[in-house]
Amino acid sequence: MHPSDTPSPGSAFAPGSVAFTGAGPGDPDLLTRQALRALALADVILHDCLISDAILAEAGPDARLIETGKRGFTASMAQGDINALIVAHARTGARVVRLKSGDATVFGRLDEEIEACDAAHVPWRILPGITAASAAVACIGQSLTRRGRNASVRLLTGHDMTGFADHDWTTLARPGEVAAIYMGKKSARFVQGRLIMHGADRVTPVTLVENASRPDQRVLATTLDRLPEDLATTGLSGPVLTLYGLAPRAAARALPDLALPQMEFA
Ligand SMILES: C[S@@+](CC[C@H](N)C(=O)[O-])C[C@H]1O[C@@H](n2cnc3c(N)ncnc32)[C@H](O)[C@@H]1O
Repeated sequence: MHPSDTPSPGSAFAPGSVAFTGAGPGDPDLLTRQALRALALADVILHDCLISDAILAEAGPDARLIETGKRGFTASMAQGDINALIVAHARTGARVVRLKSGDATVFGRLDEEIEACDAAHVPWRILPGITAASAAVACIGQSLTRRGRNASVRLLTGHDMTGFADHDWTTLARPGEVAAIYMGKKSARFVQGRLIMHGADRVTPVTLVENASRPDQRVLATTLDRLPEDLATTGLSGPVLTLYGLAPRAAARALPDLALPQMEFA
């Protein structure tokens, strides 16, 4: 489907089409109204394993729920099989919701699934959701960007298809930089090493938010220096969003002055 063919946000969810839907970080109150409507109308919902039961409860009574898996490095359905399932169900005339945690466009392998739909001439649309970084930063009372501190923010993945992911460490190591690191638990020591090697201050705040927006949400406030050890000690087992360069607002007031650059904004 060419982008110009994409249905407008208010249009109906047609049989035989796919809605790539962001489920948000877990709290069902953070679902969009578009997502709620799509879940209620869907004949088939293919969801990843981070989707909470409270959100799946929004599916219609006759909807078929199919879990496609994927937690950290554990085995899950192969991407090609997921693509094939999406297409096969849509071709039967089903309304298919492809439900992904957070926002489907953020580390969601969305393009591969869109390309499969396009190749099969299956119409699709994207329903945006609240990404984990937004939920995590909200729970510590901070902003992802701040006048005079950081004019940009990076969304990083801790690992990619080849292993630990490489990034522009030189830029990230500068004072005042902020990054939201997804899937960052296993790569914590790697990230720490790269940043310190590129000159990052060892006392740069790092906050880990586990299960952001869910009843079992936990916050671990640490520093770059202590990140791997504190992570190991705390044993966070749920999905974790790592906020590099940010401390919970209350704790931030007690931090040493990190000599943040003074920036001018229009
Ligand atoms: C495959 S990525 C998917 C990201 C998702 N599309 C989003 O926009 O949030 C999975 C990673 O997202 C982060 N994540 C997702 N939900 C989370 C939550 N409720 N709390 C903390 N981190 C979460 C974790 O880093 C997890 O390993």
